[in-house]
Amino acid sequence: MDFLKLCADRYSVRSFSDKPVPEELMLKILEAGRLAPTAKNQQPQRIFVLKSEKALEKLHKHCKCYDAPVVLLVCGDTDVACNRPIVSHSMAEMDASIVATHMMLAAQSLGVGSVWMCAFDNDAVAKEFELPDNVKPFMLLPLGYPTEDCQPSPRHTQRFPIDETVKFL
Ligand SMILES: Cc1cc2nc3c(=O)[nH]c(=O)nc-3n(C[C@H](O)[C@H](O)[C@H](O)COP(=O)(O)O)c2cc1C
Repeated sequence: MDFLKLCADRYSVRSFSDKPVPEELMLKILEAGRLAPTAKNQQPQRIFVLKSEKALEKLHKHCKCYDAPVVLLVCGDTDVACNRPIVSHSMAEMDASIVATHMMLAAQSLGVGSVWMCAFDNDAVAKEFELPDNVKPFMLLPLGYPTEDCQPSPRHTQRFPIDETVKFL
């Protein structure tokens, strides 16, 4: 599939049907994350596949995630991530973001919808899943099939013209 078309077609799904994502597709999505580049190849991503009733019940206390049948809790291990004193931002978060982007686009290529979510209480979720201090939850990636009436939000097509965000120097 043409990559730019894939990028244009993907939109944030905020209404999921209860149809499960087949295991085979889940494994492909996770493999796309595994293949992502990370700083110094340290691979600090730690991904929790929240799929069981028990795991989703725990998650729903903090984020409903639009009732997706499966949600990836994407974390980064700050002890494992590349740590360079001259770099002020977190490589763990950057690495986890690249991994999550790979998985989001892989899902789209397989006909599986997703929405990137950061609006949740990271500390509460870390506590709920008993994560050690060095494993930070950065984003949630609900996955599944959109309901029949699911539509992209108006924001989906509202991208700035390229010269507002890119400068050729
Ligand atoms: C870093 C980040 C955080 C986001 N957090 C949320 C969120 O908490 N809840 C939500 O519904 N969408 C969230 N989104 C989705 C954006 O709102 C969405 O990607 C944007 O409005 C463009 O729409 P589109 O994805 O349909 O093209 C987030 C996206 C990114 C990249």
